[in-house]
Amino acid sequence: MTRRRLIIDCDPGTDDAIALWLAFASPEVEVALVTVAGGNAGLESTLRNARAVVALAGQSVPVVAGADRPLLGTFQAEVKVHGTDGLAGVRLPEGLPACPGQAADAIRDLLRAAAPASVTLVGIAAATNLALALATEPALADRVDEIVLMTGALGEGNWTPGAEFNAAMDPEALAILLATGRPTTLATLDLTAQALVTPARAAALRARGGGHCLTACCDIMDAVPPSRRLGHLGHALHDPCAVAWIVAPDLFTTRAVAVQVECGTGPGRGRTHIDRWGRSGAAASARLLETIDANGFFALLGDRMAALR
Ligand code: RIB
Ligand code: CA
Repeated sequence: MTRRRLIIDCDPGTDDAIALWLAFASPEVEVALVTVAGGNAGLESTLRNARAVVALAGQSVPVVAGADRPLLGTFQAEVKVHGTDGLAGVRLPEGLPACPGQAADAIRDLLRAAAPASVTLVGIAAATNLALALATEPALADRVDEIVLMTGALGEGNWTPGAEFNAAMDPEALAILLATGRPTTLATLDLTAQALVTPARAAALRARGGGHCLTACCDIMDAVPPSRRLGHLGHALHDPCAVAWIVAPDLFTTRAVAVQVECGTGPGRGRTHIDRWGRSGAAASARLLETIDANGFFALLGDRMAALR
């Protein structure tokens, strides 16, 4: 089996942390680079958290800091979900220092040295770092086999009534990625809502017993408040869905869709207009993850997390 090489761009972030651990625990992939943006918390916190998450899993993958603001405007941390520290108060041991330099440069350096269509970009934050890399050297997009993003919403948003957080923080960056023409897969809020962390699922995971990463994962799951958008039944495990698509695609059903993201300054900023039924006549520009086998997903997560140290 050829292991897919991933660049994971993140803003840890409670769900980002679990997404990273799932990737590290999955033999189908090799995480070649972790880049960090601000978002769920300020860049200082998200970078500290990324270093700690990588270290807890005993990984030596380079961690590189990136954007502390979107292409336009500022990041606005989602404190209600992730707390001021970014990990809902769950403390992890200090990780190794970040690598010097800027995320966009590190992404371009890795892509420049890669074979065609050999690297998967996994975006689980505002798309700023990935967009900066590809906008400044567009030819490198041919080294990318797939762009997998946790972003957008078919229905209700979670940052504004119509916009999901990552898309809302930097819609211009998302538009740049959607325009690359590379195969792009979207895990929207409508998909991630199906990956609902309920108290029963969190307890079942903890009962499996495991190492530091599983324990920290369960501590995080217990610390994140239930979502009022989801009827207080639990909280959506957003970012791990993007990784699960890569390592276990059979858990999903998909649909080719045309997607546009709304920029500008109106109330719809960051809204992803996803055309499920081809009403716009526009050509499909992305693969929408429509359903996930939630029980299969949590079984996968448990199996993989239990194997981590
Ligand atoms: O809307 C959810 C997304 O925004 C997730 O990636 C979460 O970590 C935040 O970045
Ligand atoms: Ca995230």
